[in-house]
Amino acid sequence: MAFINWNDSLNLGIVEVDAQHQNLIRLINELHDRVKGGGNQGEIEAVLGEISAEIKEHFAAEERYFDLFLYPERDSHRGIHGLLVRQIDELLEQTRDGAMPVTDSVLQFVKDWFLTHMTGSDLVYAVWMKHKGFVDPQNGRFTQES
Ligand SMILES: [Fe+2]
Ligand SMILES: [Fe+2]
Repeated sequence: MAFINWNDSLNLGIVEVDAQHQNLIRLINELHDRVKGGGNQGEIEAVLGEISAEIKEHFAAEERYFDLFLYPERDSHRGIHGLLVRQIDELLEQTRDGAMPVTDSVLQFVKDWFLTHMTGSDLVYAVWMKHKGFVDPQNGRFTQES
């Protein structure tokens, strides 16, 4: 059983976003497996670094669509993204320094944060974009490119 299991309730119905979310879940599962499997410091740092990079790219992609469609909640959503990026980068730095190992509570924090964001704020924008016709309900694609 994976640390985070993908299931249909996590699908926002926007193919580009769902693919990025699935990739992030894969990386969080990988982090979990490395930590639990007694992976060495370098391996754990590498996965955390990948999570940090992919999450930034993903957030930037969402924010480009917020700006393109003038999503009314874009500032607060962007603020939430900024906070998570800072937390992940802090975690990465502490791991590099050897100041803090990736513990169960750290893994749980990353998992809870991500699932809460996907099924909360992300779901809200997905519903809004579909309602406004910015996403084609037939194929889950954006009707305009950012
Ligand atoms: Fe997202
Ligand atoms: Fe988001």
